[in-house]
Amino acid sequence: MNQHLTNQHLRPEPIPFIDLAAQRRRLGKSVDEAVSKVLAHCQFINGPEVTQLEAELAAYSGAQHVVTCASGTDALLMVLMAKGVGRGDAVFCPSFTFCATGEAVALTGATPVFVIKAGLKPRAVIPVDLFGQSADHDAIAAIAEAEGLFVLDDAAQAFGASYKGRRLGTSGLATATSFFPAKPLGCFGDGGAIFTDDAELAATLRSIRVHGQGSDKYDNVRLGLTGRLDTMQAAILIEKLKIFEDEIAARNLVAERYARGLGNVVSVPRLASGCTSVWAQYTIRLPEGTDRDGFAAALKAQGIPTAIYYPKSMHQQTAYRDYPVADGGLPVSEALSDDVISLPMHAYLDEPTQERIIRAVRSALGK
Ligand SMILES: Cc1ncc(COP(=O)(O)O)c(C=O)c1O
Repeated sequence: MNQHLTNQHLRPEPIPFIDLAAQRRRLGKSVDEAVSKVLAHCQFINGPEVTQLEAELAAYSGAQHVVTCASGTDALLMVLMAKGVGRGDAVFCPSFTFCATGEAVALTGATPVFVIKAGLKPRAVIPVDLFGQSADHDAIAAIAEAEGLFVLDDAAQAFGASYKGRRLGTSGLATATSFFPAKPLGCFGDGGAIFTDDAELAATLRSIRVHGQGSDKYDNVRLGLTGRLDTMQAAILIEKLKIFEDEIAARNLVAERYARGLGNVVSVPRLASGCTSVWAQYTIRLPEGTDRDGFAAALKAQGIPTAIYYPKSMHQQTAYRDYPVADGGLPVSEALSDDVISLPMHAYLDEPTQERIIRAVRSALGK
């Protein structure tokens, strides 16, 4: 009998979209031991693992300062708060992204702008390193410099990727990332970090992270958040960082196999010259006229999950409808929202399983 069919129902065995259990198996007891250590020393907030992780992330990324925090959204928000971004300010960001990019802007009272808009003071641009690959940071830096904007890189999906030989974390004023469990470097809960070479900004971020604390703990000098990464998550991330490079290499192998198997039937992602990707998602574009729901259903019937990142661009979502977009809308973002679909992608996707996905995609497209 076909090994992918269960005896009971003759249904194809379901494939996970992201296999966190396989990673847990590989990590063995190391994470359990790291967590046990935290349980023993009881420094659940700002424990030694937090400082150690920040030092390791700085060494890994090349950034001079790393401030860990509670999530990728807080990472974005804290930098905007530190720079005093607020009402009347415009922050330029893409619309085809996870909502947190624009949400962090809106939470400060500033306007996320999906196009240049008169009447607002231009302050910052947030490029997004979407799906694991770096944005074109040199091109963005040139525009930002000419316009007097600071750059906050949203690398929530791409920590570990590089741009022109530099790891993400050193472009612009600051870089924000997320350690959400499904991210290439994920913890076992929520977490994030900010990378910067600006010592003054790093000090402000450390204050914002704890309610805007000043040197006198009970004299808060600015508005802040409860924005810390907890010690347990730091301990887990220290263990995961040890296998991260290896996992990135495995993700790249998976991406190469997809490109070889699918490159002539769908539009597969391409790496820009000088860029590497950590393949947070493997997102393809379906041929024009394909019924995407039907395609997803055909794969699901074969036990293969898919996801749509993102079925609605930000400017098409209820909360962001009133923010400025170009006359005539954002046709590129809207077209992407209509025809993208993401396939299972993780470091533990073995070749036979991936062949099964490739065959199912080709057959759903009649190829
Ligand atoms: C592009 C982007 N920005 C920001 C975030 C927010 O990260 P978090 O979920 O850790 O708040 C995410 C993650 O979900 C993301 O994909």
